[in-house]
Amino acid sequence: GDVAVLVPAAGAGIRLGPGAPKALRPLAGEPLLVHAVRRIAAAGSVHTIVVAAPAADVAAVAQLLAPVAPVTVVPGGAQRQDSVAAALAAVPDGPEIVLVHDAARALVPADLVESVAAAVRSGHDAVIPVLPVVDTIKEVSADEVVQGTVDRSVLRAVQTPQGFRRAVLAAAHAAAVDPLTDDAGLVEKRGVPVVCVPGSEYAMKITRPFDLALAEQLLTVRP
Ligand code: C5P
Repeated sequence: GDVAVLVPAAGAGIRLGPGAPKALRPLAGEPLLVHAVRRIAAAGSVHTIVVAAPAADVAAVAQLLAPVAPVTVVPGGAQRQDSVAAALAAVPDGPEIVLVHDAARALVPADLVESVAAAVRSGHDAVIPVLPVVDTIKEVSADEVVQGTVDRSVLRAVQTPQGFRRAVLAAAHAAAVDPLTDDAGLVEKRGVPVVCVPGSEYAMKITRPFDLALAEQLLTVRP
C-alpha cells in the first residue's frame, strides 16, 4: 500500500462510554470510529492509519482499535487542523498519498477510499469526493428572508476521505494560518487545483439522530 489515512477524532465532545457524542457514539453497538477504521482498513491500498484522539483518551482509543486494525493513535490538538497536522507528523516514511477522513462518515465504502487514492495516484494533487446538491438552495438574510436562489448545478456537497499528494498536504499545513473546516480548503487557498470524484451516499456524515437511525438500517442491508 502507498496510502496513509488520517482520522481526526479529537473533538472535545468525545468521551468513551455510553451516550458518547461524535466519533465514539455507538452505531449498532460499536463506536463510529470503529466502523470507520474497519472500512478504511479494508481498502487494499491502505498502508498506515493514524487516528488523532483527545490527549486524555489516547490509550483507551488505541485499546479500542487494536482488535480492528493496526493503527497509530496520537494526541490531537485544539482545532481539527491541529489534530490533522499531529496525525500527519506521525506518518512513517513510505506512503506518498495521504487521505483525511472524518470518523463521523462511519460507513465509508472501501471502494471510495480506493477511488480517491487512485485519482491522486493518477496525478492529481488534491481530490475530494462529492455528490450533487438535490435540494433547491436559497440564500437568506439573518432574519430568514429569502435573498435569492442559488444555481445548484454548480454546487457540490463535499465528503471525505479527501486525498492529497503527501508533500502538498504537508506544505499546506505548514503554511496554514486561519483554521478551515476541511483540508482541501487549505490546499485550494494555495492555488492547487482540487479535483472532484463521485462520492457515495454511504459516506454520509452521521451527526443527527435521523442519520444514526438510517445508518443502522443500512448496516442491516449491507453490513
Ligand atoms: O467538530 P467538527 O464536526 O468540525 O469535527 C470534525 C472532526 O474533527 C471530528 O471527527 C472531530 O473529532 C475532529 N476534531 C479533532 N480535533 C479537534 C476538533 C475536531 O480531531 N480539536
